[in-house]
Amino acid sequence: MNQPSDPLLSIRDLKVHFFMDEGVVRAVDGVSLDVYPGQVFGIVGESGCGKSVTMKALLRIVEPPGRIVSGEMLLRRTNKKGAAPDIVDLAKLDARGQEMRDIRGGQIALIPQEPMAAFSPVHTVGNQIMEAIQLHRNVDKKEARAIALQQLKDVGIPEAEQRLDAYSWQLSGGLRQRAMIAMALSCNPALLIADEPTTAVDVTTQAQVLRLLRRLQEERNSAIIFITHDLGVIAQVAHYVTVMYLGVVVEQGPVDDIFHNPKHPYTQALLKSIPSIDMTARADLPTIKGSIPHPFNRPAGCPFYPRCARFMQGKCDKEIPALLAVDDRQRVSCFLYHDQPAEAAPVTASVEAAL
Ligand SMILES: Nc1ncnc2c1ncn2[C@@H]1O[C@H](COP(=O)(O)OP(=O)(O)O)[C@@H](O)[C@H]1O
Ligand SMILES: [Mg+2]
Repeated sequence: MNQPSDPLLSIRDLKVHFFMDEGVVRAVDGVSLDVYPGQVFGIVGESGCGKSVTMKALLRIVEPPGRIVSGEMLLRRTNKKGAAPDIVDLAKLDARGQEMRDIRGGQIALIPQEPMAAFSPVHTVGNQIMEAIQLHRNVDKKEARAIALQQLKDVGIPEAEQRLDAYSWQLSGGLRQRAMIAMALSCNPALLIADEPTTAVDVTTQAQVLRLLRRLQEERNSAIIFITHDLGVIAQVAHYVTVMYLGVVVEQGPVDDIFHNPKHPYTQALLKSIPSIDMTARADLPTIKGSIPHPFNRPAGCPFYPRCARFMQGKCDKEIPALLAVDDRQRVSCFLYHDQPAEAAPVTASVEAAL
C-alpha cells in the first residue's frame, strides 16, 4: 500500500513506567511508530510486552502507579471540513480535560481487550451507543438512535432493532463483539484501536470479525491499530507490522517483508513457532528458548539477548540497539544490522501524572 506523506499518528520514544513499591516496571520503554490514514497497522508480541499499555497511554487512561515518563504522541486532527489539520501532542494534554475527552471516543476509539469491560450490564446496548454518539456529535436523541441502529446494521447484526434494546449479557459472544465494534465506530473515528479483538471469541466469529474490520476499513478509510499476540491473525489483516518485545519495538515493516524476510532474531523465532501447512502432523513446534524475564528483572542491553541464538557477548548485553532503517522498507533494533545504540534517556524525568 502506498503511504501518503503525512502520518495520522506519530509516536516517538514513548516510555510508560509503573512505579511500584517493589520497583519500577518499564512496561513501555521507548516505542516509536507512525500510523498512516487508511492503514491497518498490526502490533504483535507476546503477552506482557506492553501492547495494551501503549494504547492506554495514547488514550491517556494509564492508571496509577503508571505514568508517561517521556515521549511524544502526535495526532494529526482534521476538525472541520476544509480546515487545515492541526497536530496535537497527546502526551501534553490534560488527561481529564475537554480536549482529551473529545479525542477519546471521537477521534480515537478503542475496542478494548476485555469484552465485558466495554458495556455496562445495567444499560441497554442501544442507550450506551446513543450516549457515546451524543457525547461527540451534535444530534438529538432520535437522531442518535437512528445512527446507533444503522451502526448495528453496518456491522451485520441481524434484527438490529431488537438488539438495540437488549442488554450486552443477552447477546452471544459474537454479537457482543460486533456491538462493541459498532459502538467504537459510531463517532466515525479517524483511528480505531482493536486490542486483541478476537481473543475471547471462537474461530468462526474470529474470521467474521476480521472480515468485518477489513471491510469497514476499506469503506471508511479509517486507520486501524490491530493488536494481537498471534502472527497468523496479523497476516490476515495488517498492511504494516510492528513487533514488540518487553516494552520496545524490535522490528517494523510492511507485512510481506516481515513474513518473507524477517530480520530480528525474535521475529524469526516468532515466525518459526507458527504451525505451517506443510509441517508433518506430529512434529513439535519449535519454541523460543527461555522465557520472558520478570518485568522487574529486565536485562541490561537488548531485552531479547538472554533468549537470542545470535547473541554477541560484550555488545548485546551492554547497550540497547537503536531502531533503525536497514533498507527502504524495514526498521530493526538489532546489532546484527548496525552499530548504533539507542540513546539512554533518564528514567526519572516525569512528564506528568497520567490521571
Ligand atoms: N496497572 C499496572 N500495574 C503494574 N504493572 C502493570 C500494570 N498494567 C500493566 N503492567 C505491566 O506492564 C507490562 C505490559 O503490560 P500490557 O501492556 O498489558 O501487555 P500486553 O502486551 O500483553 O498488552 C506487563 O509487564 C504488566 O505486568
Ligand atoms: Mg494486552
